[in-house]
Amino acid sequence: MYFIGVDLGTSAVKLVLMDETGRICNTVSKEYPLYFPKPGWAEQNPEDWYTRSVCGIRELLQEADASQVAGISFGGQMHGLVVLDETDAVIRPAILWNDGRTAAETDWLNREIGTERLSACTGNIAFAGFTAPKLLWMRSREPEQFARIRKIMLPKDYLAYRLTGVFSTDYSDASGMLLLDVQHKRWSNEMLEICHVTADQLPQLYESWEPVGTLKPEAARELGLRPDVKVMAGAGDNAAAAVGTGTVGEGRCNISLGTSGTVFISSKHFRVDEQNALHAFAHADGAYHLMGCMLSAASCNKWWLEEILKTGDYEGEQETIGNLGENPVFYLPYLMGERSPHNDPNARACFAGMSMDTTRAQMTQAVLEGVAFGLRDSLEVARSLGISIPRTKICGGGARSTLWQKIISNILNVKVDTPVCEEGPGYGAAILAATGCGVFPTVEAAAQQLVQVKATVEPELELVKKYEKQYQKFRILYPALQTWFTL
Ligand code: XUL
Repeated sequence: MYFIGVDLGTSAVKLVLMDETGRICNTVSKEYPLYFPKPGWAEQNPEDWYTRSVCGIRELLQEADASQVAGISFGGQMHGLVVLDETDAVIRPAILWNDGRTAAETDWLNREIGTERLSACTGNIAFAGFTAPKLLWMRSREPEQFARIRKIMLPKDYLAYRLTGVFSTDYSDASGMLLLDVQHKRWSNEMLEICHVTADQLPQLYESWEPVGTLKPEAARELGLRPDVKVMAGAGDNAAAAVGTGTVGEGRCNISLGTSGTVFISSKHFRVDEQNALHAFAHADGAYHLMGCMLSAASCNKWWLEEILKTGDYEGEQETIGNLGENPVFYLPYLMGERSPHNDPNARACFAGMSMDTTRAQMTQAVLEGVAFGLRDSLEVARSLGISIPRTKICGGGARSTLWQKIISNILNVKVDTPVCEEGPGYGAAILAATGCGVFPTVEAAAQQLVQVKATVEPELELVKKYEKQYQKFRILYPALQTWFTL
């Protein structure tokens, strides 16, 4: 039997073909465009997600017996607003998780409705990338289009809808809409009223491993699959990545270094931090998690190397880096504003501390360190709750750099474990598909049985001390610039 995991990312859809023993038989990646129509805005075309996924799945199965595919599931970029009209046509391009256009709506929700009430209704406060402020933005800026909305869904749910005709989502992804009462796993009527939407515009809620339906005959034909292939609800990409790296059960941590950077802490129980600096979301294993999210992580490195230095030689640039823990150059990683913990769509990236003898290597190093300091900002919030995090898994494109792993390990003072399978969300999605088809009794059991670690980076006492000093300097920079960012 085969299972397909679909990781619907921001730059590409990454597909994983897994057998029932958890072995990865094939992987395929298909890119699609990301549009920045205005500074701080980010949009994508849902049709691109579908056509690239279909094309990728066909390629994935080229050497395999497609009749053996039993299930498909997803890990999807979170928070994106996808809206359909009464004919199921997409009304406007999807507004993505890293889009900062809703500063005014986010502010209104947090100030006028109030963070206390939002937190009581949903377990979270408003952040610019969340789905609810985008609905408010559409209502005030595009009222005619807003009035045409019949279905509101998240990116991966659009794929599931096209494949099955079932209008569904899962609790982990729905948590990021600011419309779900996360603790009690039901839509919050109060939030729906505040956002001027009705329950019939929202998808049916499922656990991530639950089947929502089977393939529509035309979708099955298009994919070359049997129509009785089950489609499982899937998860937000971070929850799927956590499953794929074995971050399930109580108190485990996963760091994802993709376009975004996240610190994900699994928990059996629902909890929130006092400032709601971390997201309190449902997990794909049926429980909960806390998460800090940086809007630009590996994307900072990509921007610096490809757009500014005009090179694709990531390894070569990193080879020139020396003197860890002593870099006089600092970098604030806020290319698209920042989510956790600052919640500031106006923040922007900066270098600080340069002199006439600053080198290219120091600036490259500062970018890697700036992202690690940003991750530490989120980890500190978790530590302030008394959560002990001695080690973490790591996944995402940036995790392929052992230098970056070492920097993260020493800045966060944690052991960093690299799993054998590097396809975090795609592998997690395939595990959800296999669990939904009955191969494993629970997601937790599946992840614990399948995920193995291939290498560990340990923090070094002297370097941890040096980086502690550096982190204390980094922490001063954002508050010093906060007002300037609003000018
Ligand atoms: C999480 C978040 C990002 C996206 C990236 O809250 O916004 O990690 O899910 O795809």
